[in-house]
Amino acid sequence: MRLVEEAVSASQEVRTPDLLVVGGGKGGVGKTCFSVNLAIEVARKGWQVVLVDADLSCSNLEAVLGAKAERPLDDYFLTRERPSLASIVSGTPYENLRFVPGATGLLDAANPRTQQRAAFMRELQGLQADLVIVDLDAGAHLNTLDFFLMTDSDGVLVITPEKTSIDNAYKFLRAALFRKIERFYDSPEVGVLLKRNESLPQFLDRVRDSALFSQPVKTQILKEIQAIARGLQPKVVVNRARKAYEAQVASNILCRMARQNLMIDPERLGFLFFDKRVSEAVNSGVPFVVSHPRLKVSACVADIGGRLGYL
Ligand SMILES: Nc1ncnc2c1ncn2[C@@H]1O[C@H](COP(=O)(O)OP(=O)(O)O)[C@@H](O)[C@H]1O
Ligand SMILES: [Mg+2]
Repeated sequence: MRLVEEAVSASQEVRTPDLLVVGGGKGGVGKTCFSVNLAIEVARKGWQVVLVDADLSCSNLEAVLGAKAERPLDDYFLTRERPSLASIVSGTPYENLRFVPGATGLLDAANPRTQQRAAFMRELQGLQADLVIVDLDAGAHLNTLDFFLMTDSDGVLVITPEKTSIDNAYKFLRAALFRKIERFYDSPEVGVLLKRNESLPQFLDRVRDSALFSQPVKTQILKEIQAIARGLQPKVVVNRARKAYEAQVASNILCRMARQNLMIDPERLGFLFFDKRVSEAVNSGVPFVVSHPRLKVSACVADIGGRLGYL
């Protein structure tokens, strides 16, 4: 009987955590601040959270979180007998919150081989937690795109109300979509057509006109691509908004571009107010939801946590 009970409780312990991958293309828009403060807020509610620094070249999550890792991520990518990712997870000053630090930038861990990257992503999804939040770096490198594509519906795009940030997030989403299509087909013909086109409708027209494929194959490709685009459902967070309507306008612009050019319909997850105390908190190493729980910007983080279902 005891054996049966043990087997049942062991199987209950194996659970797949929810995954929230935070990207957006541009540096300095607030991805790390958002990830850290959301992680603390969700952990406070009693959920087990692991925060992952997936910025493999220039990480700063430790500084924003105000925690020191026991082992750097370099150990994971560069040790011949690779340790498990779970053994790299470090504690933080906050209950229910642990983290995976970034690479130090001193060694060549910024460009892991495909196999290492695949192992990293697999192990991330096997961490023992309710929620794993992955903080990505800037840009749209393959590493970053593949991390973002680990999950269809829980990729977050952080933007600010500035045009440059909206443009970068749009280009990041386009690169992610095209990467997903390329990976799906693994075909040079489709790759060549994709690279010649700016938007998904243009690409679909090229497929329709192409002499490379027969009619039934074209019909099949068009269906598959539309399904891939529909399957991507990113969530938009507007940071550094001075007014709620400013955030609304910014997310409207991005959502319209995504719908018209990429056939993707992002979800609006929420916004965070601009507050100079956010950067003071960064400098002090104490995240603002801890140092200033009553600020409007802290309430915005709590709202987003609630909207994600962590009540
Ligand atoms: N809501 C905000 N209000 C004011 N300043 C902010 C806000 N969010 C972020 N910042 C500032 O922007 C800087 C960059 O944020 P960070 O999260 O490191 O960006 P990213 O990870 O996207 O590169 C922070 O150090 C902080 O000073
Ligand atoms: Mg960052």
